[in-house]
Amino acid sequence: MANAAPPPGTADIFPEEARRWRRLEAAAADVFARYGYGELRTPIFEFTEVFQRGLGGETEVVQKEMYTFEDRGGRSLTLRPEGTAGVMRALLNTDVLNGVEQRVYYCGPMFRGERPSAGRKRQFHQIGVENVGRVAPELDAECIAMLMHLLEEIGITGAVLKINSRGVMADRGPAGQLLKDYFAGHVARMCPDCQTRFERNLWRILDCKEAGCRAIVAGAPDYFSAYSAESQDYFARVLASLDALGVKYEIDRQLVRGLDYYVHTVFEVTHEGLGGQNAIAGGGRYELFLPDQSKPVRGVGFAAGMERLMLVQDALNTARTDSAEPPVFLVSLGSAARLENLKLAAALRRRGRHVALEVEDKSMKAQMRSANRAGATTVVIRGDEELKRGVAVVKNMAGGEQREIPLDGLEQVLTEEK
Ligand code: HAM
Repeated sequence: MANAAPPPGTADIFPEEARRWRRLEAAAADVFARYGYGELRTPIFEFTEVFQRGLGGETEVVQKEMYTFEDRGGRSLTLRPEGTAGVMRALLNTDVLNGVEQRVYYCGPMFRGERPSAGRKRQFHQIGVENVGRVAPELDAECIAMLMHLLEEIGITGAVLKINSRGVMADRGPAGQLLKDYFAGHVARMCPDCQTRFERNLWRILDCKEAGCRAIVAGAPDYFSAYSAESQDYFARVLASLDALGVKYEIDRQLVRGLDYYVHTVFEVTHEGLGGQNAIAGGGRYELFLPDQSKPVRGVGFAAGMERLMLVQDALNTARTDSAEPPVFLVSLGSAARLENLKLAAALRRRGRHVALEVEDKSMKAQMRSANRAGATTVVIRGDEELKRGVAVVKNMAGGEQREIPLDGLEQVLTEEK
């Protein structure tokens, strides 16, 4: 069996589970449509520069986790590690740079070369949305509220929304200096990663998970007060809109997010049902630069990890089981009956019924066993005798009662009985 395992960090999704995935995708599409979002499907791979420039060269994702390869034409391509950069590339073909709003959502596989664990995959799946082209705190709040609405709709209670502001680029100088001055006195006691971050990506020290670093971070100065009045006001208006919408949040000054494109609002939704990897969704407002573009694309959005949403549903016991619709099972006794049943199956399937039938010569008993295994609620039995008389025996599996139905009414009866 070992050879049949897919590569580490990936998974096969069998029909029973796939039905659940579809239901989740459908629930998201349904909620998002109410807010005016339509689906955008972009390629699974992009030119590598789209992510290098879009996410920022200093991000962990770009430095350590991308699946990058050269195609036969010598182009450097990368399997998308997230959805936002590719979506922005696609939206350059619209008027977003001129302030025309686009509301799009996407779902599908993303790829990051991380160490696999429960809830952390190398091929994982996101449901994400992007509201692009306009800048307003109310849009940030509406986007967050829509995420909470989706969680509610799929039965996830007890999720915690954490929110913070990254300010704008101009704020990073003064606010960053405050942090730098403080961390400079502690850098020798930080973890090796944070010692590198101190030089190259100072803000990421704030969300280091190492106990030693967390203790240092706990004493960090209030950098938010060094932001411009506009940035502080922007954040206050996001919070006021969330209050108006009745969305509960926790302000978390250690939340910086792992991608470099964020400005102003950043947020994450966590759930204790997940254990270690506890973010089920994350997002924020961004200014994303693409190759050959001097102006950034501005938007706000989020992505939720589908595997993690389902793990939380499992922890909460909210997911319904997903059995397929029970089929009607056609039992054929003899080859003439089998041909007739093949035709009947085709006709019933066109009428929307799920149908299963045995195609080999098997005894009545064996076929009834298959019908049971398939979960059939109705079985149709036909042999030479029935064919001659122009009838079929229809058996209700729950009650066990049998009736003879004339052929001309059979399709109708079986369609209505569903
Ligand atoms: P992210 O925080 O990197 O943000 O990912 C969003 C969500 O994807 C996470 O909260 C988590 O649920 C899921 N996720 C991430 N990595 C993995 C993994 N290795 N295995 C399983 N699930 C994972 C983004 O990707 C941004 N593009 C979100 C965004 C959209 N920001 C603005 N617009």
